[in-house]
Amino acid sequence: MTDFTSKLRQNAEEIERALDTLLDINRLSGPGDVPERLVAAMRHGTLNGGKRLRPFLLRETAALCGVPPDLSLAAAVSVELIHCYSLIHDDLPAMDDDDLRRGQPTVHKAFDDATAILAGDALLTLAFGHLAEYGATDPALRARLVVELAAGAGTGGMVGGQMRDIEGETTPMADLEIAQMHAMKTGALIRAAIRMGAVLGGADRDVLGHVTAYAEAAGRAFQLADDILDVTADAQSLGKATQKDAGMNKQTLVARIGVDAARRHLGDIVHEAISALTPFGADARVLVEAARYFATRES
Ligand code: IPE
Ligand code: IPE
Ligand code: MG
Ligand code: MG
Ligand code: MG
Repeated sequence: MTDFTSKLRQNAEEIERALDTLLDINRLSGPGDVPERLVAAMRHGTLNGGKRLRPFLLRETAALCGVPPDLSLAAAVSVELIHCYSLIHDDLPAMDDDDLRRGQPTVHKAFDDATAILAGDALLTLAFGHLAEYGATDPALRARLVVELAAGAGTGGMVGGQMRDIEGETTPMADLEIAQMHAMKTGALIRAAIRMGAVLGGADRDVLGHVTAYAEAAGRAFQLADDILDVTADAQSLGKATQKDAGMNKQTLVARIGVDAARRHLGDIVHEAISALTPFGADARVLVEAARYFATRES
């Protein structure tokens, strides 16, 4: 195992443990009793799987800016909660209609559509509650983190991108529009994760600018790789159905220019991401490897 893969695995284990603790029915509170079925669906959609890449990026960016790993955990968990909610809703029959996620039945299959919608809603709400309470010790910093995450997850970010993705099923898009859709539906949350790491470390404008440039390229690379894997990988190793995008008439670069050209383009975007990290020198080597991993991953 390389140093990078062991770091990735250690982060995944820490995030898994933190999510498990957070999603304990006895800890989830509110003015009323928490329904068991809702928590079971939330746990199903969140635990036992997932590469935990967004938390990894947040924590590695925070580390680059001098933040010890314990102090970036809560913010990282909040981002992963948003990601898991987005997947639960993405898989619904009204959206991508998928039965398999992370090698197990999707939440609406294991439960039902209404429960899957509510589990997503609850994870989304929990993410912001957790971030506002534990994201940082300084209240002003916590507020900034909340604002970053809201921007990445919302109308001009992930949710807006998902809207574009659905519209694309019936309205063809030019290459640039596809890239913009990628930047929103997938890139915006990755961008938020990375910027949140920098904000936690009190980054100045220059540093924030460099990591944002990295994040934007890395985010596009990530979705392009996902679209390539849809065509080239098998469901077993991916843990989700493959060959889906063409069947759903999704607007992808792979459909427009083919796998080989898409792979070349992916190489260019990864190069762009890595170049943005030049000012940090060797300190940014984990983030450099993360960008390479985005393009070479097989699951
Ligand atoms: C899948 O994301 C959905 C996209 C945004 C492309 P990941 O590939 O990060 O999924 P998990 O969390 O590891 O399952
Ligand atoms: C999902 O994109 C992006 C999200 C915001 C969830 P995809 O629909 O391509 O992701 P997969 O392939 O189902 O994981
Ligand atoms: Mg989708
Ligand atoms: Mg999907
Ligand atoms: Mg996909």
